[in-house]
Amino acid sequence: MSYVIACSNIKGGTAKTSSVTSLAGIFAQQHYRVLVIDCDPQSNLTIALGKNPEKLQKTLVEVISNEEMCFSEAIVPITEGFDLIPAHMALHALELRMVSMFSREKLLRRKLQEVRANYDIILLDCSPSINMLTINALTAADGILIPVQANSFFALYGMTQLMTTINYIQSDPNPDLKVLGVVLTMSTNTKITKEVSNQIKETFGDRVFETVIRLSTRMAEAPAMGQTIGNYAGESSVAEDYRNLAEEIKERVNL
Ligand SMILES: Nc1ncnc2c1ncn2[C@@H]1O[C@H](COP(=O)(O)OP(=O)(O)OP(=O)(O)O)[C@@H](O)[C@H]1O
Ligand SMILES: [Mg+2]
Repeated sequence: MSYVIACSNIKGGTAKTSSVTSLAGIFAQQHYRVLVIDCDPQSNLTIALGKNPEKLQKTLVEVISNEEMCFSEAIVPITEGFDLIPAHMALHALELRMVSMFSREKLLRRKLQEVRANYDIILLDCSPSINMLTINALTAADGILIPVQANSFFALYGMTQLMTTINYIQSDPNPDLKVLGVVLTMSTNTKITKEVSNQIKETFGDRVFETVIRLSTRMAEAPAMGQTIGNYAGESSVAEDYRNLAEEIKERVNL
């Protein structure tokens, strides 16, 4: 059975999407069967993988809106063993409607059951907020991966609310949800990075991954080419960091 990871942080721009694309690309290169699901109306993951949401007939919107639609109908193959469930801006409107749907927290979890056996690892890319889509992602997940922006004075913004949400999810819809780990991203050799790193380690202890993702312009270029970092710049420092992070994740999830 696959391990489901929700990549989430309330703060925007912490490398959630970049981490999902990079890790998924690396797992796929290592011949694991990978599914990524774009749970963000911004559709950045979909676009970063070279797909135009406007040209797709079926996205996460249709799957969640239609009780009868199978998850597999919306799957877009990226490379061998690497699939995407894309997003569309219409997820904004769906998110508002989800609030009044029956068993609203478990819509994604139920749909995901249909395809879980087909993959080794499933990564969910969340938007930078706690909304019904994020709650659905956390309810469907086995573990949450929290990227924290190490070069930002505002790195810890929203951390308390995120932890409150995790506690809420653990108390009812998903008692099995674990904090898989916290990863420092966009790390630089500066005082800010040192301070953020110390504070995160004080709060999360051994949940902080040893691997730190370094700041690299290659990372900003890869999505523009519709490629994952492993394919675009496999020899770069940041690709090496994500390969190390993938190893640590595999250890923690017994993959
Ligand atoms: N290691 C890195 N080095 C340099 N730039 C990076 C790195 N990781 C991510 N970025 C850049 O930072 C920006 C934000 O990254 P990304 O879109 O992955 O964050 P996000 O958390 O998904 O954002 P959002 O909250 O809007 O969904 C992007 O321009 C991305 O290319
Ligand atoms: Mg994103």
